[in-house]
Amino acid sequence: MQRENVFLAAPSNSNTQPWTVDVVSGPARDRLSEALLVAHAQRHLSVDFPYRDELYTDLHRRRRKHFGETVYAALGIARDDHPAREAHNAESLRFYGAPHVALIFAPTTADERMAADIGMYGQTLLLAMTAYGIASCPQGLLGFYGNTIRDQLEITDGKVLFGVSFGYADTAAPVNHTRIPRAKLCETTRFHR
Ligand SMILES: Cc1cc2nc3c(=O)[nH]c(=O)nc-3n(C[C@H](O)[C@H](O)[C@H](O)COP(=O)(O)O)c2cc1C
Repeated sequence: MQRENVFLAAPSNSNTQPWTVDVVSGPARDRLSEALLVAHAQRHLSVDFPYRDELYTDLHRRRRKHFGETVYAALGIARDDHPAREAHNAESLRFYGAPHVALIFAPTTADERMAADIGMYGQTLLLAMTAYGIASCPQGLLGFYGNTIRDQLEITDGKVLFGVSFGYADTAAPVNHTRIPRAKLCETTRFHR
């Protein structure tokens, strides 16, 4: 593979590159995880980009349900095993055991238009990591704890859009061999001539 010949860079509106990224590792990663778990236990949410369940249509909900069933089956967690589901949620605030997490910030002024730029940056980052053999998990949930993250990282501005936990994959874990299918092309794309 001739990686040096590939110019892999995220596009953005007029090349504004409106993202900033804080990469957290080592003791700082452990402190952040601990603070997130405390905030989670105390139900201390600070959602930078408001979440509404009504965003999702019935079609989206069906896909989400199928995703949940697939992942929980791979994890061996039964549908009504709420303690195990809760433990899995907490695990996500331990970054699923990953040694690093990149927090992706939008400017405080950001709206949906800028979120498109930052989402594309995120996908480019994930592809670059994959090319280098690094596994990753984007985590929108981290954006529900904006104040906790800013406090821990001593950051005063910017809104957390999502985080990306990353490291080498645990290839022995069945969940890491689970493939989540995508909708057929004809379900998402219309061609006009
Ligand atoms: C913007 C965004 C937010 C996400 N948030 C979370 C999250 O909070 N927790 C999590 O475990 N996975 C999260 N994911 C990962 C998705 O669940 C995952 O990409 C999807 O189910 C398809 O699975 P795959 O990427 O492994 O094929 C997120 C993905 C994206 C793009």
